[in-house]
Amino acid sequence: MPTVFIKTYGCQMNERDSEAVAAQLVAKGYSLAPTETVADVILLNTCSVRDAAEQKALGKMANLAGQFRRTRRDVVLGFMGCMAQSRGQGLIDQLPDVDLVLGTQKFHRAADYIDDLLAGRRQQIVDTAEEQGSEATIREHLLNGSTTSVPVTAFVSIMQGCNQYCTFCIVPYTRGQERSRRIEDIVAECRELVSKGTREITLLGQIVTSYGKRDYPVRDDKSAFVQLLEAVHEIEGLERIRFTSPHPKGYGDDLIEAYGRLPKLVESAHLPLQSGSDRVLKLMHRGYTRTRFLEIIAKLRAVQPAMGITTDIIVGFPGETEADFEETLSLCREVGFDNAYVFKYSLRKDTPAAEMPGQLPVEIIEERHARLLGLINEIGGRKFASLAGRTMQILVQGPSHRNAARLEGRTRCNRIVVFDGSERHHGQLLDLKITRAGSFTLYGDPAILNLD
Ligand code: 5AD
Repeated sequence: MPTVFIKTYGCQMNERDSEAVAAQLVAKGYSLAPTETVADVILLNTCSVRDAAEQKALGKMANLAGQFRRTRRDVVLGFMGCMAQSRGQGLIDQLPDVDLVLGTQKFHRAADYIDDLLAGRRQQIVDTAEEQGSEATIREHLLNGSTTSVPVTAFVSIMQGCNQYCTFCIVPYTRGQERSRRIEDIVAECRELVSKGTREITLLGQIVTSYGKRDYPVRDDKSAFVQLLEAVHEIEGLERIRFTSPHPKGYGDDLIEAYGRLPKLVESAHLPLQSGSDRVLKLMHRGYTRTRFLEIIAKLRAVQPAMGITTDIIVGFPGETEADFEETLSLCREVGFDNAYVFKYSLRKDTPAAEMPGQLPVEIIEERHARLLGLINEIGGRKFASLAGRTMQILVQGPSHRNAARLEGRTRCNRIVVFDGSERHHGQLLDLKITRAGSFTLYGDPAILNLD
């Protein structure tokens, strides 16, 4: 049977989509190639959020075509995901060696299309149509049965699409309108994973806090998303629940209160700020003010003082003045984020921001990016260093990526901890004393407190 190699760009949703496509192909008898050089099918799962991500995937495909097309004529080359959705046939016009362009509502068709291409029944396939019910098709996982290789952590897709239409963002156009899976289907998938050894689940969607709005009415003052969290929380054997990506406006009192009530919900919240200036937030169509953002943070910390808080920020949005940017700096100081992903504004064609006046020169964007990054690292670095000496709960995930003789796990706030342990700790929760904070890694005391 043919072999397939999938390279993934972008977010965790893309990672999950790639896994589902891989699982679909494996179920049909394909095997996963360790490298692209030996694969019969090479798929690039793409990201469109910023231009740089698109250029990377385009460059990669041009290289693959140049490298393999003449020597291995029948290798199948495909684009899938967000850039496939937004550019469609244009990708084949630009790179005629591409055989397959598969949009974001069509991942479940991958195996059939690849069969057709390999058998020569069709020469090229572009499918970016909308498909009702496609949100329910990202559900297969790559599980191969041996207990040590079952992932301790897993991603579960709960919804697709976004209706927020932030003016800078391409996602509503690449992922479509919000569509949610049913609570019982999500719970069934989580149960299955937990029965195979998964201990931590991350619920995924482009705007998870809007989960199920049209399908599940508010009940006892609880939004559909909180109802889903409660249902997943009931699963016996599941230890931790995370979710991404939320929207700050989704942190209503019901969700904030859930952090105090549901012990499996980890003390970790990602609140994409984007800007600290009310004027820019309005232009971005974010739906909250600086004051409201700070209020959410205060409430979260009141419920969970140890809450790890991370964010996304865009610098150089059209019309952003030095004064606006300083509002962002001051808000970051005020909140004290544990970490922030700082992005340079990237013009996305056909978004409202692309047409706005005051597009900024790259030098200003670069300069603000460096300044904000410096501040974030200073604040985050201090917080990180202060973890040394504490005892923290670690979920053991497997051998350390840097040094396979040691083990690696994550704290509830999602920090990596490396320590000396053994195979039998795989998948366990351990309380470890943090001895030292490196630049990105914490080191735990091997004199583990709660060994069996
Ligand atoms: N330019 C730069 N960053 C962007 N993001 C989304 N769209 C753009 C854009 N056009 C960032 C936002 C979002 C993260 C996933 O990507 O910060 O939260």
